[in-house]
Amino acid sequence: MDQVYIRDVAKYIGQQITIKGWLYNKTDKGRLQFLMIRDGTGMIQVVAFKKEMTAEAFEAALAVTQESSLIVSGIVRQDERAAGGFELSLSDIQIVQLTQDYPITPKEHGIDFLMDNRHLWLRSRNQWAILRVRSAVIRAIRDYLDNNGFILMDTPILTPAACEGTTTLFETEYFGEKAYLTQSGQLYNEATIMAFGRTYCFGPAFRAEKSKTRRHLIEFWMVEPEMAYADLEECLRVEENLVSYIIQRTLEECAEELKILERDTSRLEGIVPPFPRISYTDAIAVLKEMGEELPWGEDFGAPHEVAIASRYDKPVFVHRYPAQCKAFYMETDPLDPQLSLSADLLAPEGYGEIIGGGQRTASLELLERRIAEQNLPREAFEWYLDLRRYGTVPHSGFGLGVERTVTFICGIHHIRETIPFPRTLGRIYP
Ligand code: 4AD
Ligand code: MG
Repeated sequence: MDQVYIRDVAKYIGQQITIKGWLYNKTDKGRLQFLMIRDGTGMIQVVAFKKEMTAEAFEAALAVTQESSLIVSGIVRQDERAAGGFELSLSDIQIVQLTQDYPITPKEHGIDFLMDNRHLWLRSRNQWAILRVRSAVIRAIRDYLDNNGFILMDTPILTPAACEGTTTLFETEYFGEKAYLTQSGQLYNEATIMAFGRTYCFGPAFRAEKSKTRRHLIEFWMVEPEMAYADLEECLRVEENLVSYIIQRTLEECAEELKILERDTSRLEGIVPPFPRISYTDAIAVLKEMGEELPWGEDFGAPHEVAIASRYDKPVFVHRYPAQCKAFYMETDPLDPQLSLSADLLAPEGYGEIIGGGQRTASLELLERRIAEQNLPREAFEWYLDLRRYGTVPHSGFGLGVERTVTFICGIHHIRETIPFPRTLGRIYP
């Protein structure tokens, strides 16, 4: 008989079906064995009742161990008490492989052990839920951009120069020359927008972050939309529309996953445009009142982001940071040359920055000066300077971190669970 996926069992009430999967766990009640079976699409309780099956099949149900692979057949029954509302009355069971001593048992394990066994940990219910949310978030991002006039432009992974400062660069070798793993595709998409208007890249970014935090990965995924003839204001509008679209789509598509994660979804439902905005300078004053004083001109650390965001139920834009705390490409605020036309989006509930972006310098002279001031290798940026020589226009863009966004939507503590195989400080296995 053809395989039925657990997510589709509602269509088969009262019918005999076959499910192919693995044993998640088992409860032994003597003549009744309750097998929790997962198949990748979901979980279902399978009830083995000694009276209703051959002695051989019941023996197999007794013998089967955690994470054994198996094929079961039985009749689908609606049952309010069962997780998911359905169960399968087992008639036959075939063990594909009888697993011995699966390392991750239902008892508590330490995080290092779980990370060493990440290739197996992925099978656990919460990890399953988180990574399905990740997939839904990525789908929502792509749908939003593809349907709103953005063209996908894949930018290179191997690059000759830094985009986001030299301290986190991963150096490698390129036929005898120095090269770096990309920190961001932004600079390249400042070129593609002059050909296509609105573009985005969506790929991995690499940063040798030297501090261990629950918000940083060494390899993470970022979507970076870029727009010609868009100012900071327009950029923030696109950001709030995109973020609320991602959240509302995920709420629709991942209700079951968010329930598994015990996420308080009422905190996500109200996240619709417009998002609140506060200037960096006002934020500094507010921080002082809150007892998180910071000298004007310094970049926010995690405690400052958390304090500012705690004042709002929605994500909040902090805009116009001092030019000195932002990257070389930021446009200067015409009203105050000390400020940049930049903005970060801080998630509520202490999840920190999920977007960084702003308006880019349109002026050749200013850009040349910044490159010199920051000691960046001018030769590597000649092509980038060309964009200001030949038809420069006001333009803006931003980068949204997928894993930060998923951490926030799932309401989980640490970013490492939001990517199948996390790269963190000092860990590259498995
Ligand atoms: O603020 P960042 O560094 O901005 C840029 O890279 C710009 N070039 C983006 C652009 O304008 N096109 O990074 C953008 C976002 C952050 O807000 C955060 O969500 C995520 O990328 N991010 C990280 N996520 C996980 N681990 C890290 N080490 C991250 N660094 C940045
Ligand atoms: Mg940033």
